[in-house]
Amino acid sequence: MSSFIVPHIMHHGPGSLAQLKSIKGKKAVIVTGAGSMRRLGYIDKTQALLKEAGIASAVFDGVEADPSVETVRRGFEFFKQEKPDIIIGLGGCSAIDAAKAMWIFYEYPESTFEEICVPFAVKPLRNKAKFIAIPSTSGTGTEVTCCAVITDREAGTKYPIVTYEICPDIAIVDGELAAGMPASVTANTGMDALSHDAEAFVATLATPYTDALAKESVLMVFENLPKAMADGKNIDVRQKMHDASCMAGMSFSNALLGIIHSMSHQVGGTFGVPHGRSNAILMPNVIRYNSKATKKYEILADLFGKKSAEDFAQLCDGLRQQVGIEKTYKEYGIDAKQWAEKIDQMTAHAMADPCTGANPRKPTAAEIKKIYQCCYDGTIVDF
Ligand SMILES: [Fe+2]
Repeated sequence: MSSFIVPHIMHHGPGSLAQLKSIKGKKAVIVTGAGSMRRLGYIDKTQALLKEAGIASAVFDGVEADPSVETVRRGFEFFKQEKPDIIIGLGGCSAIDAAKAMWIFYEYPESTFEEICVPFAVKPLRNKAKFIAIPSTSGTGTEVTCCAVITDREAGTKYPIVTYEICPDIAIVDGELAAGMPASVTANTGMDALSHDAEAFVATLATPYTDALAKESVLMVFENLPKAMADGKNIDVRQKMHDASCMAGMSFSNALLGIIHSMSHQVGGTFGVPHGRSNAILMPNVIRYNSKATKKYEILADLFGKKSAEDFAQLCDGLRQQVGIEKTYKEYGIDAKQWAEKIDQMTAHAMADPCTGANPRKPTAAEIKKIYQCCYDGTIVDF
């Protein structure tokens, strides 16, 4: 038996932000990032819509990329003062992830990060507030997932919070909010969404429910990501990428991921390569490696009239090139000496990463290291 957990309601389509008018509650706190949502007028718009619904609101802004433990603590203090019964994460995945963590501490003030990072350990939420997620980037799918990542810069570590409790109550997937993304963010986040599909589809916990979402999302990414790169103001295309990312999120939140993510987390943490960009570099070779243990990539290849896992790996590689992402970590600019110094540590951490457990092929440390090196040099994985 297995369960399929998604938000209670997902409003989607251009202009769906207006559904905020139908929300019931008294006081909302909007958690948002460093300024783009305010600059583009979406904070004012959100507050005006809430006002129409008879809901007062306050804004906690300035959540940084890779939100920190300190930011979560400050947000929690703000919540204590404002006493919201609705929490709204508005913006990129950092704002939404930070809001999810603040929500846990608001409900359980005595909690510690160590406690809430134990998978599925968070106690029932929604005693004080419900959660609405409104994303402005099309990649992580955090508006529908059961995860959030918080960074402890002092300790040099990331806290992954995984619990069905933090799956938002309502997601608003409005492509108009994504129109402000610069091309590089569009490329990186779009390839992140594709990597969620490619990993969830073959993950050990995949089900027909998660497969259906991943398959459709793969088609939507291939068709629409190049168009979104060419014309970021095309709202129809932005909406399709927003939907594709959300569908990929529903898929991987339930099926989990694999070693593209395990390995990418380490390259991101060590060398600062943006998450989706790094996934795009790893994806073709991880598909080749995993294809020795699963036939399912052939189903994805078949969507495009192709046959083999290698065909699908090449399609992903082609899209990477089309959206202007480097083929290798070397091309990205990582110094060979620093790479050699860090590869063993990255390998050890990738082996321990929670995503490794759901990968269809159980890797050895030596294999992970070889895949890393192939993705640095530009060599094709043939083992
Ligand atoms: Fe991802």
